[in-house]
Amino acid sequence: MAEGSLMKNSTNGDMTAADYFATNPKPASLDRQSTIARAFIEQHASEGRRVALVTSGGTTVPLENQTVRFIDNFSAGTRGATSAEYFLEAGYAVIFLHRHFSLLPYSRHYSHSTNCFLDFMTHNEAGAVVVESEYQQQMAEVLERYKKAKRENALLLLPFTTVNEYLWYLRELAMQMRPLGANGLFYLAAAVSDFFVPAERMVEHKIQSSEDFHQDAMTNGQGGRAPAAHMDGKSLMIDLDPVPKFLKQLVDAWAPQSMIVSFKLETDPALLAKKARYALEKYAHHLVIGNMLSTRKWEVLFVSADGGERWIRVPASRRTKSITGRDGDLWENAESREPAIEIESWIVPEVAKMHSQMIEKSRSPG
Ligand code: PMT
Repeated sequence: MAEGSLMKNSTNGDMTAADYFATNPKPASLDRQSTIARAFIEQHASEGRRVALVTSGGTTVPLENQTVRFIDNFSAGTRGATSAEYFLEAGYAVIFLHRHFSLLPYSRHYSHSTNCFLDFMTHNEAGAVVVESEYQQQMAEVLERYKKAKRENALLLLPFTTVNEYLWYLRELAMQMRPLGANGLFYLAAAVSDFFVPAERMVEHKIQSSEDFHQDAMTNGQGGRAPAAHMDGKSLMIDLDPVPKFLKQLVDAWAPQSMIVSFKLETDPALLAKKARYALEKYAHHLVIGNMLSTRKWEVLFVSADGGERWIRVPASRRTKSITGRDGDLWENAESREPAIEIESWIVPEVAKMHSQMIEKSRSPG
């Protein structure tokens, strides 16, 4: 790590959340979107409706201010977009804070790379473009749910790209949601970067790979500290700072009355339960939902504050489907293992039930 920042917590050397917002720029769109979010929350608060903030997709870490290169976090946005639909079905209003261009509620059914919406369309005898007859019923159902969400103004879409945008939005929305008290729910499915380039260590221009055009590593940063990315001979050297853990801040300061659900993604099965328990103890929120990268569509582990720990598993159905390869070739009838039902259709009602219990408890005296 590059040396000496003035912005470190004196006890453990980490940057605090307050330091973070003092030194990393507010997104230009934040104030405008915040006004829209406030009106949305006020409408649903006045109707006594619960509001869920669903975060979805991965955050990026730009390496240059005028960004050509960036580091990304894995997430297609399936978990978030699918869950948002089931929250709407359960009567929640949903703020969907998502990675720009990741999957969205409702349109997700027709925007996957193997599910191009054009494959659902055809021409009728009069030459007009219509939906193929075999998809009519399924599309009519999705359309009806989408129109209902729009009619009721129950779904607010807010995009982010970088981890900095995500963190500013998360804090702002948490503040806006405070009047909801226990009726607010945070469902944090986004994959948030653990390391980043702070503004003071960001180079302005595209990092030059050719040795003939190397910038001076020590002078190109904006502050006194060395830039986080620079060329060393033919190698690109990247030296990232840790992102402060905002979950602690969210639980203790930004949304102390709301229900908070975080996700834990692991690839080593031996670590999942341990890490989920650790997160729950460390941040003292309500629920951690653990999932493995390879099995996340079939099983998740609920670890809750009341000491409960249980798996939710949906059956897998073997079915054949056509998959388009990267080269555009159709791999005819490649066999893929797909869940028989969407696991979010089981996850969300469970979360909503726990939320009801929490609201009930917050109302009962003592
Ligand atoms: O979209 P899909 O392709 O369907 O994939 C969904 C998913 C696998 C990405 C999703 O189900 C999931 O597991 N999301 C969380 C992944 C993750 O970032 O885990 P984490 O261990 O880095 O973070 C755990 C929690 O800490 C998160 O809820 C995050 O909000 C929070 N966090 C993370 C970093 C940070 N600096 N501060 C935080 O508070």
